[in-house]
Amino acid sequence: MVKHLEDSVSYLQKSIRIFIVAAIGCAAVAYGQQIPAPHLAKAGAATQLIVAGKPYLALGGELHNSSSSSLDYTEPIWPRLAADHVNTVLASVTWELIEPSEGNFDFTLVDGLIHQARSNGEHIVFLWFASWKNGVSTYPPVWVKTDDARFPRARDESGHALDILSTFSAASRDEDARAFAALMRHIREVDAREQTVIMIQVENESGVLGDTRDYSAAANEAFSKPVPKELMEYLVAHKSTLIPEFRKAWEDAGGKTSGTWEEVFGKGKPKGFAIPVRTLTPPLTQEEHETEWRSLHWPVDEIFMAWNYARYINAVVEAGKAEYNIPMYVNAWLQQRDHAWPGTYPSGGALPQVMDVYHAGAPALDMLSPDLYVPEFDELCARYTREGNPLFIPESAGDARGAANLFTAFGSYNAIGFSPFGVEDAGTSKVDGPLAQAYEFLSQLTPLILAHQASGTIAGVTLDRQHPTRKVVLGKYTMEMSFARGWGAPENPEYAAALIVQTGDDEYLVAGKGLTIIFSATAPGPLTTGLATVEEGVISNGNWISGRRLNGDEIMSGAGLRLAGDAYSMQKVKLYQYR
Ligand code: DGJ
Repeated sequence: MVKHLEDSVSYLQKSIRIFIVAAIGCAAVAYGQQIPAPHLAKAGAATQLIVAGKPYLALGGELHNSSSSSLDYTEPIWPRLAADHVNTVLASVTWELIEPSEGNFDFTLVDGLIHQARSNGEHIVFLWFASWKNGVSTYPPVWVKTDDARFPRARDESGHALDILSTFSAASRDEDARAFAALMRHIREVDAREQTVIMIQVENESGVLGDTRDYSAAANEAFSKPVPKELMEYLVAHKSTLIPEFRKAWEDAGGKTSGTWEEVFGKGKPKGFAIPVRTLTPPLTQEEHETEWRSLHWPVDEIFMAWNYARYINAVVEAGKAEYNIPMYVNAWLQQRDHAWPGTYPSGGALPQVMDVYHAGAPALDMLSPDLYVPEFDELCARYTREGNPLFIPESAGDARGAANLFTAFGSYNAIGFSPFGVEDAGTSKVDGPLAQAYEFLSQLTPLILAHQASGTIAGVTLDRQHPTRKVVLGKYTMEMSFARGWGAPENPEYAAALIVQTGDDEYLVAGKGLTIIFSATAPGPLTTGLATVEEGVISNGNWISGRRLNGDEIMSGAGLRLAGDAYSMQKVKLYQYR
């Protein structure tokens, strides 16, 4: 049995090695080192994060916004996170603290955080809080914030200045880019060899809040001009593969291939229409509250802002990558209930409906990432993995729901990482909490997950009260998952989750808790599927260690697998078919 699992991993590893070697050949070698800098590489069916030359799965956690401004404050957090099996910490680096006066940089905090991470065997994703954080501009240094002649703000329709640096300012863009370049140069100097820092988030939840777009004089002038030809040409060239809701907005407006923004994408928000802070009931009806967050509203305003944020951010990313080229992504505050209209969520952020605009305007970015708190977890993972966008979830819930969603993200959407927000809070990260338990379990499975993501032979499932059963098709077999009942199963379970890994034509490894799994043949026919053998076990140092041979009640008299109880477990099953 040990051998069987090893064979499965080593076969897959051989095939993905080919892809990785090819990717390494292309990737920038880190400044005189033999090992390439962290990068993304295509590996079969997946795109993976490569750190120190090997595929890496980020079992992450994001610190609260202000935690990383004090090394004394973060010092005790690291060992706790390490004990909770968090291998990657997302921590802010702020423009205000690295460049307190113009041109004078202070990297004490950056160095201290890298040192603390290394001492605890952790990796870091730095979050560059600079021009924008949750839409607004509270993180630029005081010398930027107080000079609004040089660094102008966006304005709402009534002309009122928003606390948001306008994207229509070359000065703001260039100063942000210059500071970011200095940061990336410094990280390269202190970390290219060790690769503690593995990715960078650029800005945070960018976009205009308070109105559907920037209405400053410079913005209005740009809005009245033709859509830039770089964007138009991109859309025409990619017409057949555009994101459907985006393409529909364009076609609804006539599908023109040139013209002003409103000629190409339709009319913007009606004059004088005030945008509330949230789309509650009222102004929406109960029904609209449930549905409006899935539709686009005055898409031209959002598309216009997306293009301008993408261009600005691309300049910042390019300046940083010129110094040290590691993966860089932007995160988005999603359109959702209570935030259905642009301006109630940051208009122009990297939302799924404007993914094409970001691909056209910010090609230097490696990924667009959702801050995924909404209950429609699957739906958003699916929307964010279109057009080959790799999935990294920089913010999410870290409770039992978050722990269960992990399985879906890694198993069904080839996520490269998952990172609950506020991970240092006791409720999220205490050693026996749901996230820590899930991470401990998944850290045993990491090599297997990475290998099977590449071969496309993995699926993940989360059950909750809205979805108490789910079906998965993987290879010859279809699996019907339901909450486990009776014999040691919780009375009224809220969540259950599992990864299913296909290890052979008729063999699967199933890892999770709280559910039963019934197998049937995917192709219709006269055959019935039976369980030939079922064995429980654990993976230790990459090896399968057999436990009990399961039969009788433990396999529901042959009907299926049962991973009941509160603790995660794994089973290997061999199937057969009979007439
Ligand atoms: C989303 C932001 O990106 C985070 O920085 C933080 O402000 C959380 N919201 C708070 O819920």
